[in-house]
Amino acid sequence: MISPSLLSADFTNLEKEIKILKEEKVDFLHLDIMDGNYVPNISYGPGIVKSLRPLTDIPFDTHLMIERPENFIEDFKNAGSDIITIHPSTTKHLDRTLSLIKSHGMKAGLALNPSDSLEVLDYTLDKLDLVLVMSVNPGFGGQKFIPSALRKISEVKKMIEERNLKTLIEVDGGVKLDNAKEVLAAGADILVAGSAIFQKDKTRENIKVFKELL
Ligand code: DX5
Ligand code: ZN
Repeated sequence: MISPSLLSADFTNLEKEIKILKEEKVDFLHLDIMDGNYVPNISYGPGIVKSLRPLTDIPFDTHLMIERPENFIEDFKNAGSDIITIHPSTTKHLDRTLSLIKSHGMKAGLALNPSDSLEVLDYTLDKLDLVLVMSVNPGFGGQKFIPSALRKISEVKKMIEERNLKTLIEVDGGVKLDNAKEVLAAGADILVAGSAIFQKDKTRENIKVFKELL
């Protein structure tokens, strides 16, 4: 499955960009929310997400790179998010925050940064709909894929299988047409791609090629 990251889209023309995603039937829309605190960049918030909601029924895959995400779960629910993924170190009570996401009827994801081990999954995995393996350090689009993510993807996959779970693995950062196969072979279910998809006059073609690979 493919989840284009809107971060690389043309923000002067979001309606047009989303129309292409709709027509090319992407599986999710990846929304990167950055607070300038947890990550050294600011993107956009629930207001923008809400204004996009009437444009499409593509599920909103919301990646929160913000401190204290528990304070914004309701806002993103109201904005139309379907999946909310958080980073473990951003919340003091991880289990409670995951429960909060689920109590709003959304799917819950947990993101692992490049240096994070799988340890945090031991007591959370059973609750997760998705594990987001970061293959760059969060904060910016257009960075280079960190190869150690491949081993992490297979380890997460093994853990999910051992527990007989249906948790999906999503991979985010530096995913391009030339490494997508490897990422899928390692066990990824969902590929996030921003800069490899949104390119002037090439977005539609890029999605088509990605979809062929899948
Ligand atoms: C990085 C974000 C990514 C990013 C991906 O913090 O989480 O979703 O937008 O962009 P590319 O595909 O360009 O690496
Ligand atoms: Zn992301």
